[in-house]
Amino acid sequence: MKEKHKNINGVYCNSNSWEALEIKVSKLNPSKIFILVDENTREHCLPLFLNKNRYNSDFEILEISSGELNKNIETCLKLWNQLSDKVADRNSLIINLGGGVITDMGGFVASTFKRGIAFINIPTTLLSMVDASIGGKNGVDLGMLKNQIGIIRNPEMVLIDTGFLKTLANHQITSGYAEMLKHGLIHSTKYWNEVKAINETNIEKLEDLLWKSVLIKNEVITEDPFEKGIRKTLNYGHTLGHAIESYCLKNTNTKTLLHGEAVAIGMILATYISNKLIDFPEETLNEINYHILKKFPRTTFDDSAVNEIISLLKYDKKNDKGKVLFVLLKDIGLPEINCEVPNKLIIKAFEYYKNYK
Ligand code: GLY
Repeated sequence: MKEKHKNINGVYCNSNSWEALEIKVSKLNPSKIFILVDENTREHCLPLFLNKNRYNSDFEILEISSGELNKNIETCLKLWNQLSDKVADRNSLIINLGGGVITDMGGFVASTFKRGIAFINIPTTLLSMVDASIGGKNGVDLGMLKNQIGIIRNPEMVLIDTGFLKTLANHQITSGYAEMLKHGLIHSTKYWNEVKAINETNIEKLEDLLWKSVLIKNEVITEDPFEKGIRKTLNYGHTLGHAIESYCLKNTNTKTLLHGEAVAIGMILATYISNKLIDFPEETLNEINYHILKKFPRTTFDDSAVNEIISLLKYDKKNDKGKVLFVLLKDIGLPEINCEVPNKLIIKAFEYYKNYK
């Protein structure tokens, strides 16, 4: 059976997406096309890209080293210089072929070069397909602090080809699955149950839900593109998740966590806090934690780690007038934004996470 076209607001998935790319590129009629890759996407994803379209000889490659540690202004500087050396002009186009680091940073480099050139995202990780590549958040880390420098500016289009998922290790898929679980928690019990029920590494099963996650994200960002209100709900689990990720990046003796792995912990902590502060139901809290811990093995944080993580919260982008503001849940599908949380409750949440059986 022919697959139904999946597209919404410039995000295309599978069936007609490569055709849509061709139409978009011919409309843009760029003076030059640059493809941004890292060493992994150059090896594993560029061949599929080349196979699917007609720009084989007509573009230049920009390559960066993979990983969150390279998502910084120094890498941007190298990219801006390369664009300049290769005489990119205002009518050039950057195609970002990669995961969240590539789509976030490539979008930022494109949005700032000569005051902004066009870019297209082709996410190759599940995390970037369901979250990072959509909604125009582009940026880089400042030291170990996540996404402190950036801009909201939309790509010309996003092309999701789930064929790229086959190039990923299972833990990369599970990291993206955390963002789908988040969509379930902020959206509805129905979607939470659907996401919970799948084996995320079964790519065929994943495909339909992946598109539902895209639709949920699209609904939120369409209503609130600049994160004045409801878009904050997409940060569920991210306040502590980002601080945990930064802590792990900074402490070289700690295992580095993938973004989704840190967010999974952040969601357990936020759900516990929701139970204590705004009566999130205890039974559902247990169900959520049980499921998340089944997929994301527990990480150990000693007291000094917890203190350091709490001190990193002052850099969270949702903070206002010096207050750290969390997204919490009254129940699944009922998020509350701008919630103040006392530090002693955060410490208790970490104790709960450590001791949960
Ligand atoms: N990743 C959350 C957002 O795009 O708002």
